[in-house]
Amino acid sequence: MTDSAPSPTPDCGIGFATAEARWARLGPYYAMFPIRFAQDAIDRYTDPGDVVLDPFCGRGTAPYAAMVAGRDAVACEINPVAWVYAATKTAPAPDPDTVKDRIGAIAEAVEAEDREPESEFQTLAFCPTVLGFLNVARRELCWRYDATDRTVAALILQYLHSKLPQGLSNQMRHCRAMAPDYCVRWWNDNGYDTPPEVDPVSFLNTRVDWRYRKGIPERSHSSSVTVTLGDSATDLADPPAPARLVVTSPPYSGVTDYGVDSWLRLWAIGEGPALPKWDTKQKHVGLARYRTMLEAVFAATAGKAHPDAAWLVRCDARERTLDIVMPILAGIVGDRDVEVSPAPFSRPTQTSLYGDRATKPGEMDLLVRPAATTASANRCR
Ligand SMILES: C[S@@+](CC[C@H](N)C(=O)[O-])C[C@H]1O[C@@H](n2cnc3c(N)ncnc32)[C@H](O)[C@@H]1O
Repeated sequence: MTDSAPSPTPDCGIGFATAEARWARLGPYYAMFPIRFAQDAIDRYTDPGDVVLDPFCGRGTAPYAAMVAGRDAVACEINPVAWVYAATKTAPAPDPDTVKDRIGAIAEAVEAEDREPESEFQTLAFCPTVLGFLNVARRELCWRYDATDRTVAALILQYLHSKLPQGLSNQMRHCRAMAPDYCVRWWNDNGYDTPPEVDPVSFLNTRVDWRYRKGIPERSHSSSVTVTLGDSATDLADPPAPARLVVTSPPYSGVTDYGVDSWLRLWAIGEGPALPKWDTKQKHVGLARYRTMLEAVFAATAGKAHPDAAWLVRCDARERTLDIVMPILAGIVGDRDVEVSPAPFSRPTQTSLYGDRATKPGEMDLLVRPAATTASANRCR
């Protein structure tokens, strides 16, 4: 395969015409890389049956791309919201009727107290029927262990908050949850002082039908994909064989806090309080801790990868991230070169869409090609 050869795997990047494209988009999240980025690397540096590894897998873009290309994948993610997306899209519940049955069962289990708001934010964010449904879902869904429950959880997270009338909530941003006080003020100032009446069962069932209309990705049952919820420094699963490609994007230092940005979704799956704690631990502003975390994760990743594996790391171009990631990667791959090329934003960033007009320094792609001494080098011509 040459660098310019078209991808032989299903294109998940455009439209919703195939099951692969439809499930690829599952999961509003922050700072994702485009699926084409992962697909191109998989096409270039691996063969069918090879293992692809992503220790910071977010909403599961890389393991999903590996799966639809007939590769095996091992991935890990520390944020439960992102993990629910990743684990669902790589292994959705096979039967949409079981998903709809579970949604119906949750609605039937709602008690009067489940509809009682705990805060002004909840009063204005969700109508009582939705709030009751969410409170039962957050305590009943065994999303860690059960594929049907996880699929229901993923669909709740997908539509939890959005622009009217596309979600279960009052008018909100889709991707990132804003501070509750800000939301309350904004709703009151802009005439949104009553949440929309939504029947969560018919709302979600319609979305289940849409998501499953083309089926589920064909290779869901043949590829071995393991996505672990945990810290990659310690919790990365053993791959069936050493990985031939590591494709990943670490958190960027000082840019976003995945816990804070997902606070409402964390609450909705029972992983966070009704009002957020702004500890911003996941913003990685302390550079010493950030370096230690990256060293530990990259060392653990190298331990699961073939010594000659290709590495492709999408990285913030700012010094506080790039200057830390670069030497850690160079140290791991020995005497192979780390090629650095700019990957400028091709469209407005998520932060700029939210009013941040500062010039962005863009991103860098750090590439380490497969070692030329091995058979895998033939894959990269
Ligand atoms: C830049 S995002 C990756 C997004 C991903 N490429 C996608 O397309 O969705 C970095 C991710 O690393 C996760 N993360 C941070 N520290 C981690 C750790 N020690 N182990 C596993 N995941 C971690 C964050 O929660 C975040 O989802």
